[in-house]
Amino acid sequence: MRFFIDTASLDQIKEAKDLGILDGVTTNPSLMAKEGISGEANVANHYQAICEIVDGDVSAEVISTDFESIIEEGQKLAALAPNIVVKVPMIRDGVKALARFAEMGIRTNCTLIFSAGQGLLAAKAGATYVSPFVGRIDDINWNGMDLISDLAEIYAVQGFETEILAASIRSALHIVEAAKAGADIVTCPLKPILGLLKHPLTDIGLEKFLADHRNVAGG
Ligand code: E4P
Repeated sequence: MRFFIDTASLDQIKEAKDLGILDGVTTNPSLMAKEGISGEANVANHYQAICEIVDGDVSAEVISTDFESIIEEGQKLAALAPNIVVKVPMIRDGVKALARFAEMGIRTNCTLIFSAGQGLLAAKAGATYVSPFVGRIDDINWNGMDLISDLAEIYAVQGFETEILAASIRSALHIVEAAKAGADIVTCPLKPILGLLKHPLTDIGLEKFLADHRNVAGG
């Protein structure tokens, strides 16, 4: 399973890369706004800065909602760097744009996926990735992880090549569950990734190993 970081923060992206586990980046308009990035030129510069740090795929989301504008905006985003993937919302014109982008050889990530039907349609339209939002489904007291296993089953049975990019991942446990459920990629902030390395018995065990070593070394 690949690990993407879900942020527009260059510092967080560099920190994740430094850990040696970073396979890509996802962003969305809210994450860009959080970094204070706005305006076409600034947004384009910021995506280029991200792509200079990361070798893997970088999802850049369109803010257009009609077909012609999605295509125009997506083409501009895709031209910024070879590792840009155009992120398109699961709306009627978005589905149409996914199919057109596939014909044009532009890779896509269909975002805001909340049902197996939406994931099926996005794959049929030729999306490179789909982003089912696990945490936001949990937020309304449904089981977000069930959507990951449903999509994994559907894509395997039907032979779709679309990859499942588990999004809205909020905890280390979510990452583990997404791996078990068949996600190809998880995307989340750095904190849940760092949560994976923590276990109290590791800390206690290491403390004892080092204490035993000190005792012998000290004579
Ligand atoms: C996915 O691509 C989204 O950017 C993201 O994972 C949404 O996560 P959130 O529900 O924590 O905002």
